[in-house]
Amino acid sequence: MKRIYNDINLQNRNSFGVVESAAELVEFETSDDLKEYFSERRPKRWYVLGGGNNTLFTERYEGVLLKPVCAGREILADDGEHVDLRVEAAHDWDALVEWSVIEGLWGIENLSAIPSSVGAAPVQNIGAYGAEVKDAITAVEYFDVNRLEVVRLSNAECGFGYRESVFKHELRGVAVILAVELRLHRTATPNLGYGDVVKEVEARGGATLRNIREAICAIRSSKLPDPKVVGNAGSFFKNPIVERHIAEELRTLYSDMPFYDVAGSPDCVKLAAGWLIDRAGLKGYRCGRVGVHDRQALVLVNHGGATGGEVIALADYVCSVVKDKFGVAISPEVNIL
Ligand code: EPU
Repeated sequence: MKRIYNDINLQNRNSFGVVESAAELVEFETSDDLKEYFSERRPKRWYVLGGGNNTLFTERYEGVLLKPVCAGREILADDGEHVDLRVEAAHDWDALVEWSVIEGLWGIENLSAIPSSVGAAPVQNIGAYGAEVKDAITAVEYFDVNRLEVVRLSNAECGFGYRESVFKHELRGVAVILAVELRLHRTATPNLGYGDVVKEVEARGGATLRNIREAICAIRSSKLPDPKVVGNAGSFFKNPIVERHIAEELRTLYSDMPFYDVAGSPDCVKLAAGWLIDRAGLKGYRCGRVGVHDRQALVLVNHGGATGGEVIALADYVCSVVKDKFGVAISPEVNIL
């Protein structure tokens, strides 16, 4: 079954809390609902709105927002070691992580407390604390609005990269994700190599699933603002990937500048956009109703009542200050509409 709403207020449907609206919003349950909708109408513009955690509306959206409402979770197979799951798009991501911890299943615990729906997770290959969701995903099922049929892509076909997937590129405007299949496992595989994780896990008594989840929730909440309190979309910018010699030249000027290897690209490194913004003097910067978060410079915040246009103006300003100071271009990871 589907429900259609016209002229809808989006303020409570995006984690930035910006004051914008959309011409139409369609809540759908099944692929048949989508088939019926796209057979009858050919909307020029449409976009899937999950939890609205990684989307910035900068003006009234004169198109159709598609909102999945089914949130089922099904065990497809369990061989005693691996558990294969199929989870529908509207399932809350963190509720899935909590369930996996209760069930003693490893694989997604480092992705605790990421605000997302399950359907949105593969789009930008959500990642944190040395883990990426691509390592747990086995397949993604979507509705193809051109072919009017359901397609199932294997992990290899999803084109996963750092905050990237085929759903942001070739399948943008084509695919409506219906469900994600994941493989979790019972053998303990703690992944504690990132930053303060090991210290926080040890402080809680060692590397159990529950302790890792609690440690990561604590680290995140100490740095990242809660969107229910202050509007934000997590990291606003991607960490830029630059040629290694550029990072090495910058290191001669800024000896404490962090950078990281990029798997498969020995000539490139990833810089920390948060560090660049911080060192450009913008951490805690405020301009009217918007600002740069004071504990994590990668995050832009809505202090209350801001429009998407005000956030974009701030983002442009941050990019230009970073470019002037370091010569490095940073770009948003948030979807801008
Ligand atoms: N840094 C600063 N100042 C800041 C922020 C960071 O100096 O204001 C430095 C840190 O000290 C560190 C480096 O920059 O040396 C990297 O910072 P951090 O470890 O906090 O991680 P990040 O690169 O800023 C990424 C993800 C986050 C994820 C964390 C933890 C991106 C764009 N962001 O942030 O993801 O939670 O790692 O794994 O890759 C998100 O995507 O919404 C998100 C929050």
